[in-house]
Amino acid sequence: MKIHTRVGGTGSYLPGDPVSNASLIAAHGLDSSDEWIVERTGIRSRHLAAPGVTSSDLALEASRRALDAAGRKPEEVDLIIVATSTPDYVFPSAAALLQSKLGITNGAPAFDVQAVCSGFVYALTIAEKFIGSGSHKCALVVGAEVFSRILDWKDRGTCVLFGDGAGAVVLEASDQPGLLASAFHADGSHHGILSVPGQLCGGVVTGDPFLRMDGQAVFKFAVKVLADVAHEVLAAADMTAGQVDWLIPHQANVRILQATAKRLHVPPERCIVTVDRHGNTSAASIPLALDESVRSGQIQRGQHLLLEGVGGGFTWGATLLRF
Ligand code: UT7
Repeated sequence: MKIHTRVGGTGSYLPGDPVSNASLIAAHGLDSSDEWIVERTGIRSRHLAAPGVTSSDLALEASRRALDAAGRKPEEVDLIIVATSTPDYVFPSAAALLQSKLGITNGAPAFDVQAVCSGFVYALTIAEKFIGSGSHKCALVVGAEVFSRILDWKDRGTCVLFGDGAGAVVLEASDQPGLLASAFHADGSHHGILSVPGQLCGGVVTGDPFLRMDGQAVFKFAVKVLADVAHEVLAAADMTAGQVDWLIPHQANVRILQATAKRLHVPPERCIVTVDRHGNTSAASIPLALDESVRSGQIQRGQHLLLEGVGGGFTWGATLLRF
């Protein structure tokens, strides 16, 4: 009998109070305005982690909530995957640190996935392979980021866009269908349009340790591949966009969300939007949007969800699931 993978529970965590556009502009003396940011991006506020708070700290809170929602004890988890581009250390992984913070001592494998804003979809796709093969039964899949640490606060073209946070899901082996189809892709030839082109070398940072982006090039690429990969998973599951109850794209810019929904002929009211309150939280954005909508009662059990992300690399991917 086929082993299916379903979402047992969701959780998320946002650090501190929301920081409005006006507060951010004042704090960093930016030549910008609330009007420009809202009009071009839809972002009104974001959350920023306090100094010393790491991705694994945010992941811990989100994971506790997801485990509670799934009615699972940490020790039942037999696979931990954290999607992050802002891990606590070069190594060990944020996933290994999360395992320790959760007090899991059963030897469950724990590793990070680095696919920037597609990281959560990549991690879901990987976890589903393990569960579907029968090798694992209960996976904790997390997206956690402190992007505020890699922002150049003098670059108004990027620093107003991002935020910090974490989202998590517990994936369980099931005899009922859950994850229906997944696809993930990369094209490294576009590495130059979105990157943090620095590294640690001989005790110092070499290169540029801040996020650099050609916003317009990223925008065009994102809208195209998000539509393509959505069609790919819909075809794989033999479904149409009309059967999707909720579209949950990576939250980068409200204009990208609107353009993606339009290309898919999904009405805007069926597209989950949190970028206005979270900013772009990279790998955390999809599970944050998912958890918020589950807890608000917007997303109901049995509904069909289309999750999709695109990010640096370039990477992109989608997962179609019955919740
Ligand atoms: O997770 C994936 C990663 N990122 C994305 O998906 C982002 C994709 N790209 C975007 O969201 C948009 O391209 C941006 C929001 C980044 C920029 O919007 P845009 O409409 O493409 O603006 P632009 O880059 O063409 O800039 C227009 C003007 C420029 O001024 P000039 O050259 O026309 O005088 C910028 O310098 O807006 C200026 N500008 C700003 N003005 C006020 C750029 N950032 C700001 C700012 N405040 N924060």
